[in-house]
Amino acid sequence: MPKPLRIGLIGYGFMGRTHSNAYRQVNQFFDLEYRPELKAVCARDAEKVKAFASQWGYESVETDWRKLVERQDIDAVDICTPNNLHKEIALAAAANGKMILCEKPLSMNTAEGEEMCQAVEKAGVPNTVWYNYRRVPAVTLAKQIIDTGKLGRIFHYRANFLQDWTISADLPQGGTALWRLDAAAAGSGVTGDLLAHCIDTAIWLNGSITNVTAMTETFIKERKHNLTGKVEKVGIDDACAFLCHFANGSLGLFESTRYARGHKALYTLEINGENASIKWDLHDLHRLQWFDHKDEGIVRGWRSVHVTDGDQPYMKQWWVPGLQIGYEHTFIHQVADFLQALAANKPCPPTFRDALETQKICDAVLKSAANHQWTNV
Ligand SMILES: NC(=O)c1ccc[n+]([C@@H]2O[C@H](COP(=O)([O-])OP(=O)(O)OC[C@H]3O[C@@H](n4cnc5c(N)ncnc54)[C@H](O)[C@@H]3O)[C@@H](O)[C@H]2O)c1
Repeated sequence: MPKPLRIGLIGYGFMGRTHSNAYRQVNQFFDLEYRPELKAVCARDAEKVKAFASQWGYESVETDWRKLVERQDIDAVDICTPNNLHKEIALAAAANGKMILCEKPLSMNTAEGEEMCQAVEKAGVPNTVWYNYRRVPAVTLAKQIIDTGKLGRIFHYRANFLQDWTISADLPQGGTALWRLDAAAAGSGVTGDLLAHCIDTAIWLNGSITNVTAMTETFIKERKHNLTGKVEKVGIDDACAFLCHFANGSLGLFESTRYARGHKALYTLEINGENASIKWDLHDLHRLQWFDHKDEGIVRGWRSVHVTDGDQPYMKQWWVPGLQIGYEHTFIHQVADFLQALAANKPCPPTFRDALETQKICDAVLKSAANHQWTNV
């Protein structure tokens, strides 16, 4: 019988749902030494949090996260709140000896992230950050292929994360659902929200980034603030593009915006090596595009690999070859990996320390955009 791992979830929005689903499903598909037990969920609205608890099967509720992190019957705290609460909750959870699964970005900035790393390291508690795109089977497969060295010398890495949901000037900022537009809650705009994902995947696949040059734009300068009722300056970046050097000598090109009309969540990445190239697209997430220059000339071209076979990452846990899985499975994979790492007494990457690297790059990007200068990470 797997041992229980008693979960305390804070925040029941979008991520609260994806994580709850992952905890409920993981032992049906993975053979694990631990089983998540949905012990408590916390949010400020007592009625809504009770309804969430009964829908997803949490045993109890809290309306103050401080109470949740102090509870003796909780082993792991899952932080699914807006970014401005990650640090405070993580520090309190670590001080109470809890394991921590924290949503991305780790923190509002590098200084906060460093404090969080020190807190979990001092407490010696297992920790991980939900950069879930690493756990799309096609992206994990890209990592495996790149690590064999098959691509040869790497020249280019490029990534996009494009959305269009904030184009209306009537959209307010702040409060429920719109905290992403409020710099005080989000820290930054697309840089910390979307590019953080692209950066995490990039440094995992292609190694560290040494320096960056960036530009950002805030297209709508003022918006009504839901919490104050007043029209206030918008402090986030609506769009960001940056160039960078990787330590392996390759060049990086990244773009993210919430103003690309027609795009809802277009995350694409491409890596070009001397011998081969790889492409991936979130809208076709179960496929990996692969070009191998060593192929015989008359049939050489881009291959679209349908990543559903049992010998491809994670897929033997699911259905039969040819049947694909989706977005929610990336969170199930992260829980499975966390529980396996726990059983093996190993870290589950990206740890807080790994995720701090992304934070440093985000800070360098924002600094470069403000100074109009190349900036070292
Ligand atoms: N890994 C990913 O792909 C991914 C996707 C979306 C969001 N995120 C991250 O997840 C986090 C949450 O984002 P979301 O989209 O779920 O937001 P959301 O707005 O849907 O949910 C946020 C939740 O936090 C709760 N909350 C706010 N203040 C609180 C407090 N003081 N005490 C308790 N609960 C509080 C809200 O009630 C809400 O339930 C953010 O850090 C975000 O960057 C990650």
